[in-house]
Amino acid sequence: MVAGARSHVSLLVAMLLASLAAAHAGCGTKSNDAPADGGDLDASPSADDGGAPHDAGTIVVGPVDCKTDLDKDGLEKHLKCAPLYTDIAQKTVAPGALPYTPGLPFWSDGAEKQRWLMLPANTQIDTTDIDTWLWPVGTSAWKEFKLDGKRIETRVYKKRANDWTFATYQWAADESDAVKITGGAQVSRGAGQEPYVIPSINDCAMCHDGQKDKLLGLEAVNLGTPGTVGLTLDALVAMNLLTKVPSQTTVAFPEDTTGKAAAALGWLHVNCGVCHNEHAAAGGQSHLYLLTKPSLLFVGDGGTLPPVASLPAWTTTVDQQSDIALPSDAGPGNYLLIKRGSPTASLISVLAHARVPANQTPSDKTQMPPLVSRIVDPVGLQKVDDWITALP
Ligand code: HEC
Ligand code: HEC
Repeated sequence: MVAGARSHVSLLVAMLLASLAAAHAGCGTKSNDAPADGGDLDASPSADDGGAPHDAGTIVVGPVDCKTDLDKDGLEKHLKCAPLYTDIAQKTVAPGALPYTPGLPFWSDGAEKQRWLMLPANTQIDTTDIDTWLWPVGTSAWKEFKLDGKRIETRVYKKRANDWTFATYQWAADESDAVKITGGAQVSRGAGQEPYVIPSINDCAMCHDGQKDKLLGLEAVNLGTPGTVGLTLDALVAMNLLTKVPSQTTVAFPEDTTGKAAAALGWLHVNCGVCHNEHAAAGGQSHLYLLTKPSLLFVGDGGTLPPVASLPAWTTTVDQQSDIALPSDAGPGNYLLIKRGSPTASLISVLAHARVPANQTPSDKTQMPPLVSRIVDPVGLQKVDDWITALP
């Protein structure tokens, strides 16, 4: 933690909460204000719902005229009419949709995911600054979520001339089409199970503003991590899609004497670092940096990786006091962010293990990530706990 940031604790916390609330209320409205959902829906979630979650299974799609389907936000109201699919009944995607799976996936409560990148013809990704890739106008990225093999939602981020527009489409029960919704939804996963949460349009920027040009998984560390499928750095170079070829095409996190650092750092990078970095509001305010920037790891073939203890994910956490008082806390300072040897005394682990019940709204005091997720990532978080436990 940065020493100067430790004073005026309660004021800081109040400011954080206020700015979080403001960001939450304000984001996404520019590109996405009140799109009119199609009139052919039966009790579907709509823009008028004020963000109230709906139960799913109510999406029924009637006849759709794709000629008049484009919404005010520049996105189609129906996925059937959007450029991702050439034949949605057969689930045939457009030839230009490049499928990929990042080596470090974000945990989405156990949903199975498929992602696609679509770049306009004859364009490249501006990779001049390896830490901040810039996308050509017209870029779109899609991410589909399935539960028990059934399509639930498909999200899109699309770059326009001056901004990005984004949305999610909720699938009809028969998977014939999906409809753009703005208020989010809760999808039942069966009795006694936490629901699956489809984020509202106001949630997207909470995470996606953590990168200057919005896309989170399409970056050099993630795509350079072994296990990436489809759009590896090698593939991007081979397709001539990068303006500047990186110094190497696979990356590794450094290791320490525990032998467990690299796995933990990789999980923290994508699951927490998207918000906890210098660029994002959460990082700036908490001075908690869990992202490992590409420039730290792209040292060139044969170069020496920086020691684990020099990375921001270590220097801002290990032995560092937290000044955030949790509701369950007697007061600030009860936890270290990472206490060597003890996950249960490490706020990083405690908040990542916490989830509020389905009838409550999560917040940055009650769980991490502070929104959408209702189920802890058992396998991923174990890697962090194993590292903390092993730290001498
Ligand atoms: C809690 C954080 C979080 C929220 C909320 C969130 N996303 Fe993401 N999203 C991520 C992360 C992290 C990735 C990259 C890792 C991955 O794909 O598994 C990602 C990936 C994506 C991608 C693939 C391209 C990329 O950025 O890598 C799309 C498209 C996307 N999200 C759309 C959306 C939309 C639309 C919303 C709101 C309806 C949304 N997301 C809400 C965290 C979030
Ligand atoms: C959607 C963005 C977002 C994501 C993703 C996220 N956080 Fe946070 N986090 C916040 C915000 C906002 C706060 C409260 C303000 C602050 O201190 O930055 C916070 C606060 C914290 C704090 C308290 C900071 C302190 O000074 O004591 C910890 C610890 C924390 N987060 C850990 C995590 C971990 C671990 C993950 C990944 C499992 C994670 N966060 C993912 C936004 C996020």
